[in-house]
Amino acid sequence: MEYIDLRSDTVTVPTDEMLDAMRYAEVGDDVYGDDPTARLLEERSAEILGKEDAVFVPSGTFGNQLAIMTHTSRGDEVLISSDNHIVLYEVGAPAVLSGVQLRYLSKNSGIVDAGELARLFRAEDIHHPKTGLICIENAHTQGTAVDIANSNEVYDFAFSRNIPVHLDGARIFNAAVALGKDAKDIAKNADSVMFCFSKGLCAPVGSVLTGSSRFIKHARKNRKLMGGGMRQTGYIAAACLVALEKMICRLEEDHKNARYLASRLKDSAIFNVDESRLDINMVFAKLKKDIESNSGFNENKFISSLYDDRIKINPMHDSEYRFVTHYYISRQKIDYFVETVKKFFEKECF
Ligand SMILES: Cc1ncc(COP(=O)(O)O)c(C=O)c1O
Repeated sequence: MEYIDLRSDTVTVPTDEMLDAMRYAEVGDDVYGDDPTARLLEERSAEILGKEDAVFVPSGTFGNQLAIMTHTSRGDEVLISSDNHIVLYEVGAPAVLSGVQLRYLSKNSGIVDAGELARLFRAEDIHHPKTGLICIENAHTQGTAVDIANSNEVYDFAFSRNIPVHLDGARIFNAAVALGKDAKDIAKNADSVMFCFSKGLCAPVGSVLTGSSRFIKHARKNRKLMGGGMRQTGYIAAACLVALEKMICRLEEDHKNARYLASRLKDSAIFNVDESRLDINMVFAKLKKDIESNSGFNENKFISSLYDDRIKINPMHDSEYRFVTHYYISRQKIDYFVETVKKFFEKECF
């Protein structure tokens, strides 16, 4: 049975064209460096971001952690906003895999205060860890595309102190579309950039870490250490190549659909939508206070009732729902979702 799945863009399955490309991919053993399709994907990814080289990895988390491991030494401190994916959703991996300590910048949906960076930077002192890396995120998981001017403040500071910057660009192409820029412009000053094929771009698996040739050579060895040396990777890389070629240019449609969904939810008089975080394919919405407190609203019932109507959503997080648009979410499906939500509230809560 087909579901309307608004939980994330990670739920997207490969297109027919991707499946065909996988079937006919030319492959080899990538640990021997023999897989031409994997290599082509790495070269193409590096070129798209304006970097010298790239290494294919199984997931975004893997790519971020590989970057941290490759940039830092044990005992280093990493400056990072407290609401970044690496802090919230990567299982505490920087401490486990790289032996580094995270020092948090204030959360502000990806925007970094350069003054705060300067305050948190560790000057040489026998008591201090070394500030070994700065991590930023664009687009941010909070639904925002961060202005290049803000990122440039981070790069300028990092450059002045000789600290590398890693950009978690899981959705860098969404950020590029939202900002009206080329992804190269966003990636330009970062020492490493990770992006994902398996989110809005619909490939089944995979991410890539990009950077200088020297950095990627080191990262390739660390990838092996982390158990990420894969063999006939070309089957997956073939789908990712289609993702690069065919899916980036349609992300704008997901963004427009997110804005359409936001406006329909606003009109429904059930939700307040956070319009300050409506840059990409995500809609953040809270139930109106009176509805949540006066109506006998039961969230489990809400979610299971939607599920019975072939709609999947995630539970609230911090009193907020996140609905994500993607290739498989059309306007017609958005209309069906909103009408189904309205019916639930009319029946159960008023
Ligand atoms: C901003 C960001 N970074 C990294 C990741 C991790 O990607 P993966 O789920 O492939 O490990 C995600 C996943 O949603 C993400 O949103």
